[in-house]
Amino acid sequence: SYAPYSHYKVGAALLCKDGSVFTGCNIENAAYGPSNCAERTAIFKAVSEGKREFSKIAIVSDSEDYTYPCGVCRQFMSEFSLDTKIIVAKSPNEYEIHTLKELLPFGFEKDSMK
Ligand code: THU
Repeated sequence: SYAPYSHYKVGAALLCKDGSVFTGCNIENAAYGPSNCAERTAIFKAVSEGKREFSKIAIVSDSEDYTYPCGVCRQFMSEFSLDTKIIVAKSPNEYEIHTLKELLPFGFEKDSMK
């Protein structure tokens, strides 16, 4: 993680439907706005390598609580697979599994523009 401003370090591991895995971390910026979340870093890496279908994403941070994806990341993920499972973990045996649909009900998607 590169988090010199928030000191909140986040990591994500994205499992694509073809079995490949892309990892990501949050990357902050002095101007704050250009900062990127760990989830989006992983998804950018996957999409830039031609992947579009994601089965799971695991998210961890160095905080004591679960780190749920922010609204921008939920929306960003919804562009691809709506059935993606989101695993928020505190440790290898303390985690929750959610679906993207559960975390982003009534989202705005490609089909919304029909
Ligand atoms: N952050 C993530 O990387 N993922 C999340 O799900 C929540 C927030 C990052 C963004 C910023 O670098 C720091 O955590 C504090 O918000």
